[in-house]
Amino acid sequence: MGIAMIGTGYVGLVSAACFAEFGIDVVAVDKDQKKIEGLWDGKIPIYEPGLDDLVSRNVASGRLTFTTDLASAVADVDAVFIAVGTPSRRGDGHADLTFLFAAAEEIAKGLKKETVVVTKSTVPVGTGAKLKALFAQARPDLKIHVASNPEFLREGSAIEDFMRPDRVVVGVESEHARQVMEKIYRPLNLLKTPILVTEIETAELIKYATNSFLATKITFINEMADLCEKVGADVQTVARGLGLDGRIGPKFLHPGPGYGGSCFPKDTAALLRIAEEANVSMRIVESVVSVNDGRKRNMVRKITQACGGSVRGQTIGILGVAFKPNTDDVRDSPALVIVPALQAEGATVKIYDPEGMDMAKPDLPGVEWCNDAYEAIDGADAMVVLTEWNVFRGIDMDRAKSLLRRPLVIDLRNVYDTQDMANAGFRYISIGRNEVDGSMSNRDKDQAA
Ligand code: UDX
Repeated sequence: MGIAMIGTGYVGLVSAACFAEFGIDVVAVDKDQKKIEGLWDGKIPIYEPGLDDLVSRNVASGRLTFTTDLASAVADVDAVFIAVGTPSRRGDGHADLTFLFAAAEEIAKGLKKETVVVTKSTVPVGTGAKLKALFAQARPDLKIHVASNPEFLREGSAIEDFMRPDRVVVGVESEHARQVMEKIYRPLNLLKTPILVTEIETAELIKYATNSFLATKITFINEMADLCEKVGADVQTVARGLGLDGRIGPKFLHPGPGYGGSCFPKDTAALLRIAEEANVSMRIVESVVSVNDGRKRNMVRKITQACGGSVRGQTIGILGVAFKPNTDDVRDSPALVIVPALQAEGATVKIYDPEGMDMAKPDLPGVEWCNDAYEAIDGADAMVVLTEWNVFRGIDMDRAKSLLRRPLVIDLRNVYDTQDMANAGFRYISIGRNEVDGSMSNRDKDQAA
């Protein structure tokens, strides 16, 4: 069994390495010569835990190879996976399929035998049909089967998600394609992973439905957190109470500053465009998108209010710029909205993130980038947690207090225990939980009273 993976971005590289780990011969293709040379040298262009080991092990075994020569890579394989980017088209939210169709044209030219061409990139419903038409026109001499195999990888745990998925979704329209896809995923039989074989359109839609539903779940708990703050309830416990209902489930009920990343914002926008074209109203997802956009801006107000109504002339020490922990990705990260807004209001912003700073630098001019969390809060008027990296959980709070100009922590990820923070002498503001203020000693409090 041999496959070619077109595109060595996040999805392409993880999938290529994992398929090789399954024992399949994989050739990964990219136009970027430098990237391919780097990969041969073991240089992984993204931060993903475990990926460097996985790549080097499979390169050493000879099962994973890299090339810029697409035509020869696809000539003699059983399946070609397309994993090129499908970014949101500027202005209208449509998925931009330029790279996908360009790759398909090249694949059509290079194929030499009956092959299954599989889209791994997230594509609008109907793209499989368009690819089929493209291949029929370009290569009437050859049997080319189109399939859809959406990925559900989370950044930061992508390898685990690939190796132990909840399910694999495969959209096919021929017996040959079904057989090839089942053979590729056979190693997952041992884990009894459900393999859902569907029509191509259905597979394409499952991906958008999944991401839009998860985005909805997060947005629901985020709005619930706002309500908790007003009525004195604790959102963490509300989420637990909700999640224990087996019909709801506990995951993706963690409140925060709004979802970001490379998938949820892009896929919810694309689903709305697909629905619009199909003349179907999707008011829930529409609300999710606008509530989430508004939430990132509301977080600026939350910080400003905590700082006394204005941050002008103040220094804000920010922990975390990546859209979530264990990734260097900052695409659509709440930080990209919050930081410029604080600067525009006259604050000086210092940031530390274990992996995301290099990616964020071009988007966030004027920031003072720091070497660790303590440097970021040194002399700051407030510490703000934007990403729940583990290193931030273990911060020495006595040291933090001695470095901060005043003991104010605004935690948009609910990393700390409210009582612990009060006991440690902080004024602590988090999401959907009562504000606590341990910054005044008992004597001060008596005097204030
Ligand atoms: C997501 C999907 O989970 C994955 O299946 C798909 O293939 C790609 O998109 P990813 O974007 O890597 O993966 O991260 P994920 O862990 O899903 O988090 C997305 C965003 O939601 C992050 O900004 C995260 O902070 C936020 N989030 C997630 C919450 O605010 N609360 C939660 O409970 C979960």
